[in-house]
This record gives sequence, structure tokens and C-alpha cells, in this order.
Amino acid sequence: GAPPPPGTNPNDGSLERVRADSAGQRLTTNQGVPVADNQNSLKSSVRGPTLMEDFILREKITHFDHERIPERVVHARGSAAHGYFEAYEDLSSLTRAAPFAQAGKRTPVFVRFSTVAGERGSTDTARDVRGFAVKFYTDEGNWDLVGNNIPVFFIQDAMKFPDLVHALKPEPHNGIPQAASAHDTFWDFTSLMPESMHMLMWAMSDRAIPRSLRMMQGFGVHTFRLVNADGGSVFVKFHWLPLAGTHSLVWDEAMKISGADSDFHRRDLWEAIEAGCYPQWELALQTFTEEQAAQFPFDVLDATKIVPEELVPLKVVGRMTLNRNPDNFFAETEQVAFCTAHIIPGIDFTNDPLLQGRIHSYVDTQISRLGGPNFHEIPINAPVCPMHNNQRDGMHRQTINRGKVAYEPNSLGGGCPHQAGMAGFTSVRVQEAQEDKVRGKPELFADHYSQARLFWQSQTRHEQQHIINAFRFELSKVMVPGIRVRMLSMLANVDDALVSAVAAGLGLPVPPPQPLATSLPLPSYPPSPALSLMAR
Ligand code: HEM
Repeated sequence: GAPPPPGTNPNDGSLERVRADSAGQRLTTNQGVPVADNQNSLKSSVRGPTLMEDFILREKITHFDHERIPERVVHARGSAAHGYFEAYEDLSSLTRAAPFAQAGKRTPVFVRFSTVAGERGSTDTARDVRGFAVKFYTDEGNWDLVGNNIPVFFIQDAMKFPDLVHALKPEPHNGIPQAASAHDTFWDFTSLMPESMHMLMWAMSDRAIPRSLRMMQGFGVHTFRLVNADGGSVFVKFHWLPLAGTHSLVWDEAMKISGADSDFHRRDLWEAIEAGCYPQWELALQTFTEEQAAQFPFDVLDATKIVPEELVPLKVVGRMTLNRNPDNFFAETEQVAFCTAHIIPGIDFTNDPLLQGRIHSYVDTQISRLGGPNFHEIPINAPVCPMHNNQRDGMHRQTINRGKVAYEPNSLGGGCPHQAGMAGFTSVRVQEAQEDKVRGKPELFADHYSQARLFWQSQTRHEQQHIINAFRFELSKVMVPGIRVRMLSMLANVDDALVSAVAAGLGLPVPPPQPLATSLPLPSYPPSPALSLMAR
């Protein structure tokens, strides 16, 4: 039917439909039965055993016993807020995605920031990558931009993700350490995966100890596609630019804060919003054609590479404001389900082999984390636009679908949605070559060091010193000497001064550089000042 008038949509992002306020109400059981005494269980006599028939006690305890759900397998610790995205201009020549349809258009969002490795109760200021996940509740369905605060990733292929996470989570025999790095298994794995070198440079830089969740950049990481109404498409990289600037802690501060207030980032975000000091980010795009991409000295399907801003400048297209804290941490922050498969007409995937694996992973894990296939009905996950299909039943189904027809084609009508109507995904014109099935990688994926060097050379002198200090600290915690040497041999491919300083700190000689995985002539990039925090 017709969409409800503005402000009356039961799920317009405010979640008014499901808010409960019990202030001043009488206490009841889950069945609505009044509870007169919430202090004492029912006993056979004042000093007698508790009676089995005390359904009030049993209901209260039983529900409590089941309060916990599994934490996320990664990004378990997070903090979130509501807000909106406002487009600066009509981008329809580039994309038909609803949030960019006209200047000034507002789309509700819910954003969750997270650390990757720590458990749900872990400390906020650990050295780690931060998740930056944005759910846009658009009028053509939910679009999730599930990004990080670092623009590249450790690995190039989803096949390696479980290995990476097994290496970076606390070691399985003793559950130590809580932090992302500083242990044997993390450095063992990464020192055997030279493709992680670029990401390691970022992870050892000040970027991995942000001052505030309000002061981090966000990145979609992968190359995506924008598609316009005619099916024309360009590649795109997404960037969030904090209006408060990008700021970090220094390591000494991060450690002290961690001891004094392990909720430092969560508290900071909450208090800023309560005080009306709303965090804001601008959304910027790097768009480029397939022909341009073919000329780049790296492969745009490789998530360990950035597209330097010197090559493709950023275009700012809108602004996001976070202006409302959640009412309930569990209902919203914990139960929100972001998914890279949640795209809307106008946005599309590329063949990035890391992205392709993610498209599968999120919904799969959420089926177990959120208890079955109906978690899209949980209020924080439900779209704000009308949603109709022939899916039925399953654990915890809330919707009461009417009518007897839940299949297509049918000749009976009533109750069944039909596929005609609004234009959905247009077919996308792509030129990417179709080849034989293969388990392998494009040759340019094997250049693991050029952009690690680009990052190093783009840092100011004190930022470089912080990176040296971080490698020294982290590798000094590694108990197996061979792992330290292997990591030094990777650093020897990045920069002489870097490897010498780290080796000296560890009391080791500089080993020969690790053999390169490619014989291709490697690009040498001019330093990119935009990669330094000083430019942000
Ligand atoms: C969370 C898988 C790579 C960003 C998760 C979760 C899984 C997962 C299973 C937990 C989801 C949940 O329980 O709701 C994967 C796989 C990857 C991958 C298989 C590679 C193949 C990445 C990359 C990024 C990223 C490259 C950044 C661009 C995030 C974020 C979250 C997350 C931000 C937390 C979402 C939230 O706040 O709820 N990932 N991930 N992941 N992932 Fe990934």
C-alpha cells in the first residue's frame, strides 16, 4: 500500500513502535499477570523449601538464565549511535542509489564502531583496527557500508580469513592476550603472509590507537561499483572524513587510559551525543573507470592496496550526523546485523575476492548469533521501507502473514507480492574478462611492499618513530626468535631506516630481505601527504 505519511512510519529509524517505558507501571509476569511481591519466593512455610509451583520465581530465573547470546566472532566489542546522512548533491549521473537522489535528502543511519580482536568486555584503547559499520535505512531497502578505520586489509582472499582470525584472537590454550597483536600466533601468521605488510604498517601506526571514535576516518576498503539508471557503472572507494579531524592517542596514553577507564571510547561517544556535540563525518568518493583502473600500477580488486588520492582525488558528497544514543544497548548495539550483502539498487559488488567471501559470511554467522533466519525482523535490522516477500516461518517469526498464497507464479492473488513495479537492480555493463575457473591470484596482487613503503614515506618523522616503537614493543613480546627475524626480513623490503631501527631495538642484526613474490617491475609512488595524520 501507500507509504505512511512522514513521521508516522512505525519504523522510520526512531523505533517508536517497539519502545517500552515501564516507569510507574505495575510489575507483571511475561503473561501480564500482576506480581505483588518481587522480593520473596513462595515457600511451604516461612522457613520451608521453595515450592516448584512458584511460576513467578521460575519465569524470572529462567529468563535471566538465557540473557546472553554469543558475541560476534570478530568485532565483538562495539559502541553505536543513531543519526542521519544528508546528501550534498544529486548524484544520479553516477548512481541511482536512493540516499544520493537529491541535494538535501536525509536517510536515517545506525552506526556501530568496534575493535576487531577483543572480546565483548575488552578494553577500548587496545592497539587494533576499528570497525566502522554504517546501516543506511534507505527508501529502497537497507544498505550496509561495513568498513574499517584503515583503508586496507591483512589478506587478499576470503579463504585466509579464518586463519587470520585464529591467529589474532587470544591464543587458544591460555586465552592470552586480549589485545590484537603482541603475541606469537599473530606475528607468526603475518610474517608468513607478506601480503599483510601494508596493513601492518597502518596497524603499527597511530591510526590503530584513535583518540576518539568521533575522530577516525572510515573506509569501505574494497572497490565497489556505482551504477546509474542506465546500467552505466564506475568503480568507487568510500571514505568517511571526521569533521572533528583525525586524531590519535600516543601509546603511553593508550596504556594508561586502558587501565583507568576501559570504556574510554564508549563513554566519549555517549557523552558527546548526550551533550549535543554531535559527531559528524563527510562522505567522500573516489570514482574511476575500468579503463583508468587498468592503468594503475596495482589491482583495484586487491584489498591490500589503496588508490592514492594523488591518483584519484576525493569528492565530498554528503555528511553524516550522529545525534541519538541507543535506548538499549542489547536491543540495538548488540542485535544489529550488518552485512556486506546488503546493497541497494545503484551500488554493486566487484570481484574483489575478499569482498566476495564477506558477502556470504555475515548472514551466515548472524543466523547462529541471532538465533535463526528471522533476525531481519528485529527492530534495529528492519528496513524502513515496505518489505514483502514469500518467505515464511522459521524460529522466532514475528510477522503474521495473511492469505493462503506464498508462492509465485500463482493465479489466486490475495496476500502475495508480485515482482513487477519499481525498477530494481539494473544490469550492469562491465568489461571484466571472463576466464576459466581457477584458484589463483592476478599477478599484480604479488606486489606486497610498494604501498607499505608509500605509507612509511608519507609519515612525518615522529609518526615514523611511533611505528618503529610499535614494531619493537610488539615483536619484543614474541617468544619465538625465528618469527622476529622473519618479520624483520619483511620490513627490510619496506625501508632501510625502519628495519635497522626495529632490529636495533630487538638487539638483532638486520637479516636479508625476504625474496619478492613477483618479478614485475614495481611502481615507486611519490609520498602521499594525505596518509599522514598531520594532514587530517
Ligand atoms: C564483523 C567476517 C573482512 C569489517 C564481522 C563478522 C564476521 C565477519 C563473521 C561478525 C558479524 C556478526 O556477528 O554480526 C568477515 C570475513 C572477512 C571480513 C569473512 C573477509 C573475508 C572484513 C573487512 C572489513 C570488515 C575487510 C572492513 C572493510 C567488519 C566490521 C564488523 C565485522 C566493521 C562489525 C560489524 C558490526 O559492528 O556489527 N566480519 N569479515 N570485515 N567485519 Fe568482517
